[in-house]
Amino acid sequence: MKIGITSDHAAHDLRVDLIPRLRELGHDVTDRGPASAARTNYAPWGARLAGEVAAGEFDLGIAICGSGLGISMACNKVKGIRAACVSEIYSARMARAHNNANILCFGARVVGPDVALALCQEFLTTQFEGGRHTERVAQLSQLEAGDTSFIEAAC
Ligand code: RB5
Repeated sequence: MKIGITSDHAAHDLRVDLIPRLRELGHDVTDRGPASAARTNYAPWGARLAGEVAAGEFDLGIAICGSGLGISMACNKVKGIRAACVSEIYSARMARAHNNANILCFGARVVGPDVALALCQEFLTTQFEGGRHTERVAQLSQLEAGDTSFIEAAC
């Protein structure tokens, strides 16, 4: 499985720390920058990685900023992306198992390096369960496509 990882400046050091540790765990990780911790906006980094995940260049992505919030919002603006911002293991697992999330986000100012690695490992090793969750995830794609017919049908 091919994994792309990016961040803004606030999470540069955490990202650089995580990459070799993820590779040691056997993950095929491509670093998508930035190359330095110079101040930069989170939107371009998140959106570029999200586009690459949506295009199939990566199977899953990891996008990190200070809080995890801004970069997850940027990722979620890209069609086909389900980015989940998490800070504990249960949500990292559920993001994959129930929501079929394709990008994991977290905050470098929220979690430490060991928790960050554990979040990544949980996310990257959990499979989507399918079943009853398939229709639910499909409704997210319908919303993205502007099809709101399922709302009137359900509410
Ligand atoms: C940068 O200071 C910070 O605002 C950014 O990393 C992120 O937390 C935004 O959501």
